[in-house]
Amino acid sequence: MGQDATPALRQQAQSAAPPVEAVAGQPRERSPQRVIVTGGAGFLGAWLCRQLLRDGCEVVAVDNFVTGSQSVVDELAAHPAFTFVQADITQALDVPGRVDQVMHLASPASPVHYAALPVETMLVGSVGTMNALDLAQAHGARFVLASTSEVYGDPLVHPQPETYWGNVNPVGPRSVYDESKRFAEALTMAYRTSRGVDTGIARIFNTYGPGMRADDGRMIPAFMTQALKGEPITVTGDGSQTRSLCFVSDTTEGLRALAASGHPGPVNLGGTQEVTVLELARTVCRLAGSTSSITFVDLPEDDPRVRRPDTSRAEELLGWRPRVGVEEGLRRTLDWFEDQLRSAA
Ligand SMILES: NC(=O)c1ccc[n+]([C@@H]2O[C@H](COP(=O)([O-])OP(=O)(O)OC[C@H]3O[C@@H](n4cnc5c(N)ncnc54)[C@H](O)[C@@H]3O)[C@@H](O)[C@H]2O)c1
Repeated sequence: MGQDATPALRQQAQSAAPPVEAVAGQPRERSPQRVIVTGGAGFLGAWLCRQLLRDGCEVVAVDNFVTGSQSVVDELAAHPAFTFVQADITQALDVPGRVDQVMHLASPASPVHYAALPVETMLVGSVGTMNALDLAQAHGARFVLASTSEVYGDPLVHPQPETYWGNVNPVGPRSVYDESKRFAEALTMAYRTSRGVDTGIARIFNTYGPGMRADDGRMIPAFMTQALKGEPITVTGDGSQTRSLCFVSDTTEGLRALAASGHPGPVNLGGTQEVTVLELARTVCRLAGSTSSITFVDLPEDDPRVRRPDTSRAEELLGWRPRVGVEEGLRRTLDWFEDQLRSAA
């Protein structure tokens, strides 16, 4: 546990309720639980914490801010059921008191971040996952790993079912992320089979929504800030590569459904509406009412050509499917980026 972790744990923030009620999606009927969210100051982690707080859970978020945001913690800390621990999960972590679930989201996730933090990415996927699993084991808690569609690499099977083993370059520029998640999945299964930990693995596909960082190199923030500023929209390759986008509240609801199910997974969570990157750029431009032109730049090495989850397992086992359509989700995200740009100005 980090030096500052224990005092932080004991220091419950007291103040007015944050806007957790404004979180999208239907509240779930569940008994209140105490949940640890590693990576709780990140994009997905923040949405997950808000949903859990909205539904009456007590939340302990753990984050070292390597890519996360202090402003997220400041917002959530106003909720009396929220506690923040500033700690690096690659160091052993002890959380006093009852723990029902450990949701392990800590990891750099954007290509810009994991290229800048290659060793840290490998360590959080390996040692960090081990520490999070140890925490779950110590408390008899359910453990959920936020894995990724990147375990499929540049897939040769389309759409990708969970039974597909992937096509990953182990020494390419994306390997630190892809292989750390593949290791994390194997370690999670090892704790399940040899140590009896109640684990679940979610394979998350491209997720977007309000709260993404504008500068993390991901496609949606880049397209939106370019469109809103009237700058050329940079599409990689010829734009014919595909992605399947999922709005963030749908993804985090999927993580919670997996946590509640007791199923080991892996379970794909992702949007089923496959679009080309060029179509997406045009849609963002249209929704933003932008006059931006589209320019084409080199395709990054090992960039997947196609990306679409087979979500039948999530539908059958968890009763989960994405609810927010792509246009609606893009509009909501554009509104958020517009607000951000306005306040920055
Ligand atoms: N966003 C997506 O489209 C997507 C897709 C697939 C999988 N995922 C997975 O979901 C998780 C969250 O992704 P995100 O988009 O919110 O990324 P993010 O970068 O916004 O959040 C990750 C959080 O983890 C924290 N973190 C990283 N290393 C840490 C460490 N050693 N100790 C403590 N905290 C640490 C960061 O500071 C950050 O707050 C990641 O595990 C990612 O692999 C995300």
